[in-house]
Amino acid sequence: MESPGLFKVRINTLIPGKATSFDLYVKINNQPVLYLRAGDNLSQEKINSFGNRDTGSFFLVKEQDRQAYKNYVQEQMSGSLGANQKAMVLRESSMTLVEELFEHPDVNKALDGARPVIKQFVDFMQTEPEAMGHLISLSGHDFYTYNHSLDVAIYSLGLAEAAGFRDKELEEMGIGALFHDVGKRQVSLDILCKKGPLDDSEWAQMQKHPQFGLMILVENPLITDSVRAACFEHHESWSGNGYPQQIAAQEIHPFARIVAITDTYDAMTTQRSYNVPLKPLDAVTMMKEKLAGRYDPDLLKAMHSVLFKLKAS
Ligand SMILES: [Fe+2]
Ligand SMILES: [Fe+2]
Repeated sequence: MESPGLFKVRINTLIPGKATSFDLYVKINNQPVLYLRAGDNLSQEKINSFGNRDTGSFFLVKEQDRQAYKNYVQEQMSGSLGANQKAMVLRESSMTLVEELFEHPDVNKALDGARPVIKQFVDFMQTEPEAMGHLISLSGHDFYTYNHSLDVAIYSLGLAEAAGFRDKELEEMGIGALFHDVGKRQVSLDILCKKGPLDDSEWAQMQKHPQFGLMILVENPLITDSVRAACFEHHESWSGNGYPQQIAAQEIHPFARIVAITDTYDAMTTQRSYNVPLKPLDAVTMMKEKLAGRYDPDLLKAMHSVLFKLKAS
């Protein structure tokens, strides 16, 4: 973490006009400076003056206030905010958490720490019928590095629910999707960040990330077979020419078939990995037509309804 003893809190998780129970700091010349004292009112003007809210602006909060911040988020989630604001608070507060988890040197801590995050999403989906629509409408709009995993998790939860999975299964789906690329920890940064096309040996290393992921996940006793499958099989193709095992159709675990769809969809619709992001409908159409055969056709249909039925409402 960049500031010892402090953690990041995204501005969009804070409700204007509401006093916080923790001090907020900003970084000036690399030093944390007290910005707002606990109990003071965080006005909309203060938030506006802080800068562009879409670029991932954040405050810092002392580590000892972490529980107070968690309680604050929990309070918003069970309070009277509209579903769209709740979706914003949940997604934004999870984003910094996911970032911390992914930077954690101990993967097992990250895996264990992710469960309550996913559970919050599942709870929100189950108590708020519009939850998924609002969450999806927030996805894919920014450049933050860790959004890919979180957005793949959000889309996968929506698709899994549409496919009939419930409760505990949804939680497993969320964890599996969040960690689908965990094996990239073992791929060198030069390859991960390379701008141009990969050469053969770089590509070979990149294609090992599902195996690397599996090796990481088997070390954690709380990780289930279906979470492992979501990671290990997410680059398999419905028609059998994916990797690493080249299994096909029903041989591929349903969670991995879901991640195969949501992973590609997210890559196509955000600027993180493609220069020109496709519009949602264009992405799904391309997956149906140009990439036909790669994905479970029933799940692809369900993805269409998750995205567009919800967006229309
Ligand atoms: Fe992957
Ligand atoms: Fe991915």
